[in-house]
Amino acid sequence: MSTRLLCISDYEQRAKSVLPKSIYDYYRSGANDQETLAENIAAFSRWKLYPRILRNVAEVDLCTSILGQRVSMPICAAATAMQCMAHADGELATVRACRSLGTGMMLSSWSTSSIEDVAEAGREALRWLQLYIYKDREVTKQLVRRAERMGYKAIFVTVDTPYLGNRFDDVRNRFKLPPQLRLKNFETDNLAFSSKEDFGDNSGFAVYVTKVIDASISWDDVKWLKGLTSLPIVAKGILRGDDAREAVKHGLDGILVSNHGARQLDGVPATIDALPEIVEAVEGKVEVFLDGGVRKGTDVLKALALGAKAVFVGRPIIWGLASQGEKGVQDVLEILKEEFRLAMALSGCQNVKVIDKTLVRKNPLALSKI
Ligand SMILES: Cc1cc2nc3c(=O)[nH]c(=O)nc-3n(C[C@H](O)[C@H](O)[C@H](O)COP(=O)(O)O)c2cc1C
Repeated sequence: MSTRLLCISDYEQRAKSVLPKSIYDYYRSGANDQETLAENIAAFSRWKLYPRILRNVAEVDLCTSILGQRVSMPICAAATAMQCMAHADGELATVRACRSLGTGMMLSSWSTSSIEDVAEAGREALRWLQLYIYKDREVTKQLVRRAERMGYKAIFVTVDTPYLGNRFDDVRNRFKLPPQLRLKNFETDNLAFSSKEDFGDNSGFAVYVTKVIDASISWDDVKWLKGLTSLPIVAKGILRGDDAREAVKHGLDGILVSNHGARQLDGVPATIDALPEIVEAVEGKVEVFLDGGVRKGTDVLKALALGAKAVFVGRPIIWGLASQGEKGVQDVLEILKEEFRLAMALSGCQNVKVIDKTLVRKNPLALSKI
């Protein structure tokens, strides 16, 4: 009998056993010594839950809204690049699984299926586009126009990647896309990260990013983006209260507290530890989201208790895809949903509105070690 996959780490083990090493390494890795990668997980454990009892949890409602759009649960798919390396159906499988679950998918600019094909595969699915700002602003502008045309509901502009973080495994593996794949949102080989290009002895992807992404972007470019589209814009990759306030001042509609899955600057805090400062800074003026290390229903509950409207998961989606394509992603989302439902019920929460900060406290033992 084959082993049953019961939790997200079971899916990771399965993915590891089926993916070629350099591809698994690309998906799994964090930057440099991967301190933040470990911290994203460990920090969740330092927050302890203080459940309420005897609250009649025969019915538990997980529904919420994100930027005005209804979702069946506050758990969505984060943008992860190049999903067709994990499974031939890649982003199309992800969008279909998100639609089945009634939740949203953030599509990476660096997807191996196009903005249009993903929209076609998931017509009724709630979709957002993650945006990188290219040196050639026309390239970025066209991505936004295509997202508008195809019914994507918001732009998540990534603000933590003027250069790609240094991921040792990708350098060692001289990581590049398999020859049959390319970044499908771009026509020309130089923008499509084609394996026909010569990237030398480095991580091919780091070389690509340095070549095409604009390291000079600043708040002025946020203003430019605001002027370009009427879609809601969320800043993805904020870790400080002052930056969050600046984003609000610039009229952005949301903040995604993220350290890019620990793939950019190593040594930054876990996102769950950065969240309270940002929630306080924005004073309820915009929605705040979190990603990074969410692997369990209790992680979702802790993030919502500390003020996140919803969470996004990156690697768990990839592990589902690699394991069983669309069904694998669906299973991963269902596992998280059911774990979250049980965590809510066992904490006395009938709906997401009653999740508040009294449900969590930093473990006093962890605090005494500081
Ligand atoms: C393999 C991989 C690819 C990613 N690609 C992108 C991307 O193209 N754009 C982006 O803004 N973030 C990207 N991210 C970051 C995710 O959007 C998200 O912040 C992170 O995965 C959340 O952490 P988690 O993987 O621990 O859930 C990527 C992350 C991973 C693991």
